[in-house]
Amino acid sequence: MINWPDAASRSRALYDRGLKVLPGGITRTLPWQEPFPVYAARGEGAYVIDVDGTRRLDLLNNFASLIHGHAHPAVVEAVRRQVGNGSAFTLPTEQEVALAETICGRAESFEQVRFCNSGSEAVMSAIKAARAITGRPKIVKAEGVYHGAYDYAEVSLDSSPANWGNDPNSIGYSKGVPKGVTDDVIVIPFNDVEASERVIRANAGDIAAVLLDAAPSYLGFVQISKPFIAMIERVTREIGAVLILDEVITFRSHTGGAQTLLGVNPDLTTLAKIIGGGFPVGAVAGRREFMRIYDHREGKPGLPWSGTFTANPVTMTAGKVTLDLLDHAAIDRLNQLGDRLIDGVNAAFAKSSFPGQVTGFGSSFMIFGHTRSVSDYRSGYSTPEETRRVAALQHALTIEGFHIARTGKGFLSTPMTEADIDRFIDAVSRVVDAGLEM
Ligand SMILES: Cc1ncc(COP(=O)(O)O)c(C=O)c1O
Repeated sequence: MINWPDAASRSRALYDRGLKVLPGGITRTLPWQEPFPVYAARGEGAYVIDVDGTRRLDLLNNFASLIHGHAHPAVVEAVRRQVGNGSAFTLPTEQEVALAETICGRAESFEQVRFCNSGSEAVMSAIKAARAITGRPKIVKAEGVYHGAYDYAEVSLDSSPANWGNDPNSIGYSKGVPKGVTDDVIVIPFNDVEASERVIRANAGDIAAVLLDAAPSYLGFVQISKPFIAMIERVTREIGAVLILDEVITFRSHTGGAQTLLGVNPDLTTLAKIIGGGFPVGAVAGRREFMRIYDHREGKPGLPWSGTFTANPVTMTAGKVTLDLLDHAAIDRLNQLGDRLIDGVNAAFAKSSFPGQVTGFGSSFMIFGHTRSVSDYRSGYSTPEETRRVAALQHALTIEGFHIARTGKGFLSTPMTEADIDRFIDAVSRVVDAGLEM
């Protein structure tokens, strides 16, 4: 029984209440969909049950943070025990040491780690660390790549043919971004070795950090090319800047993250999402010589860092249980499910009249409303009609019993089965064959 979008549904009633007290009726923009969002009541493994009792396969998993789906019994049990013993202290805990040990055991470049409460905070902290280490102001990032809600990290996130320029312009994302922010962010075209090297070298003496994602979600998770990352590593080191790899999402691709899988050698890495086991988290991990900037033992550190809920034992407990369950075999299986989904959905599109494609990396995927080959932001860029096509597909899939993002993104979880993926592929087939209302 599907009660969405039904004017008499409980989701509709909650949305009407929300409209009175929350701008636009909701808190996060992400779950918004026309004509009103589905409201969650509870989650069970791979499924989320809405307030009207409809059960849907959850391919969002709180935007890639619930790698074991909802309410995994081992996480619930450990967290329940921890909450009974206290949820936050102004004292360090064993749980924080234990999760740090687990994370540091996972990738060669993770010698030490500093926790915070979100991926956005982690990116902000890593950028501040790089500035403190180098004494330089500017950061380099790739066009169209998301690194969280921080003015500097958001530059040129949604630039368009009207303003993106030849070498990418630095465009503020939200209204009111000060000019100082865009002046201090240099934007490069992802995977373009020649243009990016030229732009970086032209600013060499001012650059504190190069911030990169090895498979950016907004670019359909297209993988960083070997020549591009080799150039970035070489030039970054030559000019004395810090290489920050954002693994907030890609850490799920291998036990040691995309850096281990693809052979990237960052100085600092930003982490979040799955390392908190479903609770708010962020972290900066990296080589000891860079992480020293956080060390307070000789007086005020180069980068003072605190935070009321930082490293709280509930998050640390959930994160540790989650990572302990996420071994090579679990990740291999997830990545195979990802391949199955991509092959199946692309085959469904190919035999229908839907002009689209799905791309992905490991257990993350993105559906595009066009068939152009995607290698960077500009080649992936969708027209308004192509964007509407994907939103229409997402709307139809919600009615069929599947949650993906309006932007066509999705992330798998370990409780999912091959049968779940096949049911999703069948649903995509059905809705594209029936024709979408745009
Ligand atoms: C690559 C990347 N970096 C940073 C962030 C920000 O993380 P958070 O939402 O925890 O602030 C995200 C969030 O989706 C992300 O995908």
